Amino acid sequence: MISPKKYAKAAKMIPKGFKTANEFFNYVYTDDEMIWMGQNTNHLHDENGIMEAMLESIKKRDYCKYPPSEGFPELKELVLKDLGLTDGFEILITAGGTESLYLCTNDILGPEDNTITSDPGYLIIDNFASRFGDHVKSVPIYNKKCGYKLTPDLVRENMDKNTKLVVLIDPLNPLGSCYTKEEIKDFADLAEDNDIYMLHDITYRDFARDHHLVADYAPEHALTIYSFSKIYGMAGMRIGGVVGVPDVINSLRSIVINDLGTNIVAQRGAIAAIKTKNQWIDRIRNTTRGNQKIIKQAVDQVEGAFIPVYPSDGNMMAIDLYDTGIKPLDVAEYLLDKKIFTREGSYTSKLFGHRYLRVSYSVPTKDVEYFAKCFLEAVEALKP
Ligand SMILES: Cc1ncc(COP(=O)(O)O)c(C=O)c1O
Repeated sequence: MISPKKYAKAAKMIPKGFKTANEFFNYVYTDDEMIWMGQNTNHLHDENGIMEAMLESIKKRDYCKYPPSEGFPELKELVLKDLGLTDGFEILITAGGTESLYLCTNDILGPEDNTITSDPGYLIIDNFASRFGDHVKSVPIYNKKCGYKLTPDLVRENMDKNTKLVVLIDPLNPLGSCYTKEEIKDFADLAEDNDIYMLHDITYRDFARDHHLVADYAPEHALTIYSFSKIYGMAGMRIGGVVGVPDVINSLRSIVINDLGTNIVAQRGAIAAIKTKNQWIDRIRNTTRGNQKIIKQAVDQVEGAFIPVYPSDGNMMAIDLYDTGIKPLDVAEYLLDKKIFTREGSYTSKLFGHRYLRVSYSVPTKDVEYFAKCFLEAVEALKP
């Protein structure tokens, strides 16, 4: 008899009327009118060459062949150049950042090692780390004192001799907190001094006002996770990668999953996405930053509600509702009826998930205005 494994995992609440999370996601997915503010995806791209590159690849029937297993060299070079990590770094292209996160935790952690993560955070990483290491220490960071982020001091306080991996999500899903250059340098020193690895998940990097890479300061101790799902708007194509020094990438090569390579059409789109980036990135950043303001104006009208990190450096933010007495899940369900998909906090936090609703706002501004209106209606309808 086989029974489900008991790894750390997100407490996914299933909205009323659905039997499984999959059934729920299928429902939101198949409704073309649904406004997608629940997955930090990006719906702001227009015809800028990305879709065209993928269509061209399909027309040529590229998909009949397997691609080079680690990714097209052109794409690998483009990502390294995008990060400014051209000297002394290598990259593997994978099916999203997710596959890279799995490979890194699998490769780095031995059965006695532990991992430090943050709560709130992106809980699938805790799950992966708990599969391969001894345990995960998820440090509570939902407070002003630490700036709503895992700080170098908090890591020092929480690490022990078996700590091997520290997960830095930067900017942080769900709060949008981000690191300064000094903090990143401090993390780099910490990693070097203690011979540990920093798993630097930079999935939301391009939404940030300012961003720094651990890999620039502690190259031997950094694994950088790259994604095409957010700024590039390609979540459904499932493409990303991991960057590290040759020793690290060589070690990852020994445990690959997708031995036959990553989706060819996605790779063609990804190449076009990086090549065209400077034509569209300012527009997308300006729109998301403007959209944040609309949400803030609505939240400010609600007594007891607040946005812990504002402005957010990601394309998402948390709205804390605890003092209003309104449950985030109830708001999420109310909004779903209005065809707005958002996420209650339990998806990204075990300790604080009952406090906040997470919303992403890389959607057209008219949709954010509609959200703001419906959010205020929800508060009125649900207040105790
Ligand atoms: C912090 C973080 N890392 C990774 C991912 C997943 O990235 P990908 O779609 O590239 O697998 C997400 C998705 O929301 C995320 O929030």
